[in-house]
Amino acid sequence: MNQGMTGLLKLGVIGDPIAHSKSPVMHQAALRERRIVGSYTALHVTPDRLEDFIRTVREEEYRGINVTIPHKENVMRYLDELDEDARRIGAVNTIVNEGGRLIGRNTDGIGYVRSLKEEAAAELAGRRIVVLGAGGAARGIVYALASEAPGRITLLNRTTERAEALAREWSDLADIAVLPSSRAAEALQDADIVINTTSVGMHPHMDEVPIDSAPLRGTEIVSDLIYNPLETKLLRLAREKGCQTHGGLGMFVYQGAYAFEYWTGVPAPIAAMREAVLDSMN
Ligand code: ATR
Repeated sequence: MNQGMTGLLKLGVIGDPIAHSKSPVMHQAALRERRIVGSYTALHVTPDRLEDFIRTVREEEYRGINVTIPHKENVMRYLDELDEDARRIGAVNTIVNEGGRLIGRNTDGIGYVRSLKEEAAAELAGRRIVVLGAGGAARGIVYALASEAPGRITLLNRTTERAEALAREWSDLADIAVLPSSRAAEALQDADIVINTTSVGMHPHMDEVPIDSAPLRGTEIVSDLIYNPLETKLLRLAREKGCQTHGGLGMFVYQGAYAFEYWTGVPAPIAAMREAVLDSMN
């Protein structure tokens, strides 16, 4: 484990804004649970200071940094290397400092898929998956899902062209179809798994739903990336229809867990991390 000259494992998260990030409480709990002497700090970095900050990551011997909005794409140009996921997704959420070499990784997609498998006991191979949305969050998710050999992925987005561009990008990995929102009911009717990656339903707009939920009756799992609120209106309606539901908290926990494991080489304490985030939300 690289703990710098001070013996302290220095970690942090950069974003603008950053004050409301749950990453510090989650990673501090993980460090405590694993008895690792270290720190994890929320660092407010504005876009004009990003390049300078990345220099200090090397100089001040940070072992790892999480990257959030609005730096996930722009930070890539200042790093020494990108892993395959970060390169293909075109965004970095985790930086690992390997003796002064900064490696950009992306754990959002794998974190989501892991949480879906673990928490919803979802088998993805051969399943018909409908993804709502085609923005930044959808990119990582669709890439990770496509890598799992599903039967078919259908993208539904308010702006159809954006979904078409995404489908073209990952066409080498999976069979990805695009339907206009006007044909949402058709796509939903024969879906096994429906995943909302849009921001519709997020606090404080909790009365909103990204789709008419009526056709969800036969869907096995309905999943939402949003974790504030823990149960979105979409998930509540799906649950009332008898679908199994899966919220976004697990994705947040597992993206952090993969980052923690890259930095420390130690298995992440998933339950303690989840509990810390839940405690901080109450
Ligand atoms: P993120 O990084 O959270 O994905 P984004 O890149 O701005 O943010 O993408 C937001 C996604 O939510 C998009 O799919 C967007 O649809 P458009 O591509 O048509 O803009 C979707 N979205 C946001 N608000 C929406 C709304 N009110 N109705 C339907 N879709 C919405």
